[in-house]
Amino acid sequence: MSTSNLSNEVIAKIEDLRRRLDRANYLYYVKDQPEISDAQYDSLMRALQELEARYPQAVTPESPTQRVGATPLTEFTPHVHLAPMLSLANAFGEDELRAFDERCHKALELPSDEPIEYVCELKFDGLAVSLTYQDGKLIAGATRGNGMQGENITENLKTIKAIPLNMHNSKLDKPGAKPIPNLVEVRGEAILTHDEFHRINDEREESGEPTFANPRNAAAGSLRQLDPKITAMRRLTMFCYGVGAYEGVDFESQNKVLCALGDWGFKVNPNVKVCTNIDEVAAYINDWHTKKEKLPYDIDGMVVKVNSFAYQSQLGSVARSPRWAVAYKYPAMQATTVIIDIIVGVGRTGALTPVAIMEPVEVSGVTVSRATLHNEDEVHRKDVRIGDTVVIQRAGEVIPEVVEVVKEKRKGTEVEFHMPTKCPVCNADVERAPGEAVARCVGIACPAQIRENIIHFTSRTAMDMDGIGPALVDQLIESGLIHDPADLFFLKAENMAILDRMAQKSAENAYNAIQASKTAPLSRLIYALGIRHVGERTAAALAEHFGNIDAVTNASEEVLAEVPDVGPVVAASVVRFFHQEETAEVLRKLKEAGIDPKVEGRQQTEAFAGKSIVFTGALTKLTREQAEQLVYKLGASPSSSVSKKTSLVVAGEKAGSKLDKAHSLGVPVISEDEFLEMVKESGADL
Ligand code: IVH
Repeated sequence: MSTSNLSNEVIAKIEDLRRRLDRANYLYYVKDQPEISDAQYDSLMRALQELEARYPQAVTPESPTQRVGATPLTEFTPHVHLAPMLSLANAFGEDELRAFDERCHKALELPSDEPIEYVCELKFDGLAVSLTYQDGKLIAGATRGNGMQGENITENLKTIKAIPLNMHNSKLDKPGAKPIPNLVEVRGEAILTHDEFHRINDEREESGEPTFANPRNAAAGSLRQLDPKITAMRRLTMFCYGVGAYEGVDFESQNKVLCALGDWGFKVNPNVKVCTNIDEVAAYINDWHTKKEKLPYDIDGMVVKVNSFAYQSQLGSVARSPRWAVAYKYPAMQATTVIIDIIVGVGRTGALTPVAIMEPVEVSGVTVSRATLHNEDEVHRKDVRIGDTVVIQRAGEVIPEVVEVVKEKRKGTEVEFHMPTKCPVCNADVERAPGEAVARCVGIACPAQIRENIIHFTSRTAMDMDGIGPALVDQLIESGLIHDPADLFFLKAENMAILDRMAQKSAENAYNAIQASKTAPLSRLIYALGIRHVGERTAAALAEHFGNIDAVTNASEEVLAEVPDVGPVVAASVVRFFHQEETAEVLRKLKEAGIDPKVEGRQQTEAFAGKSIVFTGALTKLTREQAEQLVYKLGASPSSSVSKKTSLVVAGEKAGSKLDKAHSLGVPVISEDEFLEMVKESGADL
């Protein structure tokens, strides 16, 4: 930080806040042992943000405020690894594992009765990542790419809270502790836990986006986003397991590397075992064959590494793989069973999904009786029929799926599947848009969609009505107490207490949860409405842009398209949603219940509401920040770049390329004085 003109007191305060925030992050995301509350964390973060806003010269890239960068990239740049990122040879079964041990003995010229020490580590199923630290500060993060050169995804990796922006230097009194190196490439795997994977997919399903097939794809997709804000919403984590290039430090063994990484503040998986010989390795691998099912994330094997670095360098590598390590792969979890029926489920957006109902069968410790068939084309591609004997497969957190039909077992009585032309729940027409794989029920009053919609409305990321789960929603609908999400707000505890299995206390809790949700911010309410193509992020952008629900309701497609991130498909979907009679009724009831959130501190002036305004050049009467705050307060969105979505450009002195761009795009341009006049005439309450 260029801090020459800052008082020592300010510097000390900033450094203290950063230390406390880094520590809180570490305890929460690396150690899973938080010491301070979320509220305390938020207040430290706010204090630091305020100081940094006041003293922008004090901002550094490693400050905890800088985890989520402001501007999306236009492309990723290449990153050359200092030491190549190698891949591993596979071993399937114990024989191949023992053959690896023999190869090591031979290459090291060791007698076969002299055991080699190995380290066993879980093989995480995510995306391999390399982090470069110079003097303990994160300076770059990259994907593996071709092993020599990957993509620079630093901004995305910085959003992962388990990755330290500054390495720790606090364990030096510990015997054998390693100092912070001048330079080190830390290697590891960025992953998503099962919980996060499901949360993301639920949300995508709800907003009509395609779901990810498995946590690995979701992790990879999240890190290949050009906008770090999207990556930040995916809540990835990262296990570190090795080093690439390093300077100013030395290691004796793989185990010492893992210890040093832990001391330096990286997340290292605890399920590591140093084995004195290959028999112990085999036993540990066996141990994890069933234990791996209980992990909250996916692994696809066990990595076995020669512990000693002296041995490792003697063994070297062949092609792109080290000779000192091997990836033991567990056999695929498959089983054979019979399809009893193919049913069709209806989702919140009306999407119909064929599901195979099967004779229950055990696949590596878990009993399975349903498998997704994804869509109609998939059923026909695999030629799956009712009565077929099929091979099914489970892999990690993936929903069980049908791999193939055992055609030899066909008797000729099997029945082909056809997507129904009427919704199995409401009997409305089923339509499949050209080019889309998904067939949808078009019924606007389809009970299945209404049910899913209400469940979505109450969910944690929407209105967050704690304790109102699918079972209660079903009961409330069946008993006729609710017909749409807004009805929830008119329920009384007494009404709910008469439901089956509902104690007075639970009815009161449900009532309180519903009432508490009334103060949810506008962004959550918009998201909760379940508009197709409007996920959390778009909902937040709409809330920010319009400031209240009426403004969103009345916005035309053209006005909506001015909102950052809103394209024509989303704009059309929003307009369609607000034009439905059912929506108007829900909004009327919400208002009647007193729910009409507004983005705080904003007015909706006719001259400014919903506009996107860019300031360029030097302003003389206001600072840039004051001007931006002013238009925001009047209902507009300040923006830093001119595009065809810009409503107005305010050009100060010496305006340059943005002014040229505004002219070339035909965006109206006014002077600072004209702008101030416009503010005065807007009738705003300032
Ligand atoms: S060590 C030279 N350790 O498996 C050693 N890799 O093909 C290279 N992986 O791309 C990697 N867990 O993404 C190592 N504990 C672990 C691992 C691990 C997962 C991945 C890594 C690599 C692939 C090997």
